[in-house]
Amino acid sequence: MTVTTPTDDLAEIRYTTGISIIVPTYQEVDNIPHILARLDKLRQDYNLTLEVIFSDDNSQDGSAEAVAASGFDWAKILVRTKDRGLSPAVIEGFEAAQYPILVCMDCDLSHPPERIPQMILGLNSGQQFVIGSRYVPGASTDDDWGFLRWLNSIIATMLARPLTKVKDPMSGFFIMRKADFDTVKELNPVGYKIALELIVKCGFQNVGEVPIHFSDRVYGESKLSFKEQLKYIQHLRRLYLHRFANAMYLAQFLVVGASGVAVNLIMLSILLAMGLPDAVCLAGGIGVSVITNFLLNRRFTFSYAKDGNIGKQFVGFVGASAVGACVNFAVSYALRNSIFEGSGSGLYLSALCGIAAGMIFNYLGNRYIVFRK
Ligand code: GDD
Repeated sequence: MTVTTPTDDLAEIRYTTGISIIVPTYQEVDNIPHILARLDKLRQDYNLTLEVIFSDDNSQDGSAEAVAASGFDWAKILVRTKDRGLSPAVIEGFEAAQYPILVCMDCDLSHPPERIPQMILGLNSGQQFVIGSRYVPGASTDDDWGFLRWLNSIIATMLARPLTKVKDPMSGFFIMRKADFDTVKELNPVGYKIALELIVKCGFQNVGEVPIHFSDRVYGESKLSFKEQLKYIQHLRRLYLHRFANAMYLAQFLVVGASGVAVNLIMLSILLAMGLPDAVCLAGGIGVSVITNFLLNRRFTFSYAKDGNIGKQFVGFVGASAVGACVNFAVSYALRNSIFEGSGSGLYLSALCGIAAGMIFNYLGNRYIVFRK
């Protein structure tokens, strides 16, 4: 990751061939004239060929009229009526773009358009993706960022760390080549974090960050609700699955397995409290935990298979568990009589090795047979 710092060399980007600036909007009528004025100045200062596409979710607040009233033939609005949301709006805008350089930015002027030339320099120098960043030296934010907003942003960024080393992957201000965008398959962002989605799905390694001053919006309101923030967790899970598929499936399988132990013990206690015979209580705990494990694995761990035939899957799951139990027993027993023989805690060590072997066998059976893709 490279941090691009301001240079005096911006003249280099004059006459850059075609830039499509995509601005996702929802009820931003008051901001449209201001952002267009700033972009028009940029266009004139650098003799840029550009288009601005407001990708609007049918705001019906006069946004379409405000774009038309600007009189700029390089500005248009795409009124969307399906698949509402910031990220889908950006993707649709990128698909509609006609120029080879794509810029995404907010409408509320949080992101300074004047930084675009610096970001283009990054692309020209070989970077694949350039972010207008709040977290590199030289960047700043308005003072009235409360502690909670700051903390929220830091935690969200930390959670994305294993996916990218970029300092500000949450930014909605970035630039990339249309040619790269056109090659990416399977874009599936949930919520706001379209930059993170593109970096991970395009597999970009050379990402630059240009420091910006992030201003608080003057007109209108943020649409970033708590619900949108929760969607980020769902989005992260999908991206982790994309990047670290096998490790993620195994981790989820183990977490579900651990939850099964808790379910088993809770059920056992309930049945004991009801005064039932020990054998019934033990069998009840095992039976209920097998069912919850199956349902959780089907719904979460291997969610891609959740539309498969549930009956067949359940039989397969129980079968794989039975085979796993046999492998567990065979490995424990064999080790008990060989490697660990004579050792004081030999039986426990053999049992632990057996559990690990059984679990791996069980996992592989579920991943590649019962819930195969
Ligand atoms: N089309 C469309 N549909 N646009 C939307 C939607 C939507 O559902 N929701 C928000 N937008 C537009 C807004 O109109 C604005 O132009 C831009 O997306 C950003 O939305 P804000 O609601 O202003 O976001 P924010 O200021 O709270 O969030 C900022 O910080 C995030 C990182 O914490 C933005 O910079 C985000 O881009 C950034 O991810």
